[in-house]
Amino acid sequence: MKVQMKVAIDGPAGAGKSTVAKKLADRLGLLYIDTGSMYRAVTLKALQSQISFGDAEQLGRLAATVKIELVPGNEAGCKVFLDGQDVTKAIREPQVSNHVSLVAKIPAVRKNLVKQQQDIAAHCGVVMDGRDIGTRVLPDAKAKFFLTATIEERAKRRLQDLKQQGHDISLKKLISEIAERDTMDQNRAVDPLIPSEDAIIIDSTGLTIEQVVELMVQKVKEVYA
Ligand code: CDP
Repeated sequence: MKVQMKVAIDGPAGAGKSTVAKKLADRLGLLYIDTGSMYRAVTLKALQSQISFGDAEQLGRLAATVKIELVPGNEAGCKVFLDGQDVTKAIREPQVSNHVSLVAKIPAVRKNLVKQQQDIAAHCGVVMDGRDIGTRVLPDAKAKFFLTATIEERAKRRLQDLKQQGHDISLKKLISEIAERDTMDQNRAVDPLIPSEDAIIIDSTGLTIEQVVELMVQKVKEVYA
């Protein structure tokens, strides 16, 4: 039986994971799963339902009841549906970004979403990006990457995305928001953002997307030869 390729890409906010992961998946003919979009979808639902971000119990229940669908094929990645509604754009709004780490630190939320992610990966070859893919979701993946870049570089990249979405925010403010999210992701009790011991660490500062993708393609082909 042909071994299905599993590629795990973790790293902090704005490191370019989703752009690289999508291109890598296209090159290798694998399915791309953006796990961050699932945490974002639950966060959006919590905002819509006016659930307090301190109410772990209710947020855990919410994660268990919402229906999140990731539909592949979009140029920029997956289209995301939340209870049947297309929320692809809405989950990228700053209000969601600024609350998502509060939702992602709740153990019951993680348990539920991790299970859904593992179920998807059980049936097909995937490139998954997130924070705990190499450590928790796909610990047996043979190809694991931890993609990072300086905070200035990451904030500059994210600023461009936000400007395209029509948001006006200063680089300084964005740096502090991203740093705050990184700190929460790195310090939470359950599955914090840390490189898996067997991950290849790539600092993408000063590298082009194509250079990063090329590095990864070579490595994946090597380990799955
Ligand atoms: O795209 P960006 O780097 O801004 O973040 P994302 O991948 O959309 O993830 C948003 C947030 O979801 C992260 O800051 C984490 O709090 C959480 N997340 C997580 O805890 N575990 C994952 N596997 C993916 C995302």
